[in-house]
Amino acid sequence: MQQIVDEIAEEMMNLEDKGEVAHYIPQLAKIDPNQFAISVALTNGEIYQAGCADKLFSIQSISKVFTLTLALGKLGDSIWQRVGREPSGDPFNSIVQLEHEHGKPRNPFINAGAITIADLIMQGHEPKEVLAEIIQFMRYIADDDSIAIDEKVAKSELETGARNASLAYFMSSFGHFENPVEEVLGTYFHHCSIAMNSTQLAKAGLFLANNGVNPITGYTVVSAQRAKRINALMLTCGHYDGSGEFAFRVGLPGKSGVGGGILAVAPGNASIGVWSPGLDAIGNSKLGTKALELLAYKTGWSVFGK
Ligand code: DON
Repeated sequence: MQQIVDEIAEEMMNLEDKGEVAHYIPQLAKIDPNQFAISVALTNGEIYQAGCADKLFSIQSISKVFTLTLALGKLGDSIWQRVGREPSGDPFNSIVQLEHEHGKPRNPFINAGAITIADLIMQGHEPKEVLAEIIQFMRYIADDDSIAIDEKVAKSELETGARNASLAYFMSSFGHFENPVEEVLGTYFHHCSIAMNSTQLAKAGLFLANNGVNPITGYTVVSAQRAKRINALMLTCGHYDGSGEFAFRVGLPGKSGVGGGILAVAPGNASIGVWSPGLDAIGNSKLGTKALELLAYKTGWSVFGK
């Protein structure tokens, strides 16, 4: 496995076209695109890494996997009254379906869906309290107490968050929100701004690769059925309007973020964190996707067969 990740890292660093960093969040626009990291956490507890696997990056939409997990833990299947489970086929920040579908987002991974999930987990609490709970959960699943929010990124998102504010106010016009819109947005921007490295990310996703149990700590995070269902949503919706292409090329449940990270899950085998800040036209890491495509090919881990 070490040889495989070393080969992938080398191949990625030699590629000319590394994609474009996210420009709409000024703090992310400053990141050097010539960086790549890969970490593979096997379900037997072994971890392999290559590239700058210690470098922190903004996990952005990958955080939506963890807020969904928290929401399911708090509220169970009742969350599906507020958010759907279908791919949207539209960009992550699209508003078009919301009017036709009465303010109910298609799935928990598009921005509108994740903002709805933020409203659900708040349950009348202050953003500060909810964020403390989210961070505590991240530290627990990754078994790493150093995980924290990058406040500069959160501020940068808030200052340029007109689209997300539009989505949130539009949804609240249907009367669905339980908490003040500004507070829901604050919670959402801050959880998107959690900073992690690829190894922490791989460790945080291990419970999804191992039927709900983190094999390193022995903690049961969710039931096996819930882990399977979160994986299903990652596979069908985790890359927005690029989810079909990601399934075609990589064949693993995955969740991307505009910070350039991707969490991929090879059920029964491994949880993988990759990072390279340059994005493709849809907003998913260009080299991250390529690296996962290579890894799935070399290991035969695709859920669709060897
Ligand atoms: O709300 C946003 O636009 C960002 N905080 C998250 C978007 C994102 O990561 C999309 N993923 N590829």
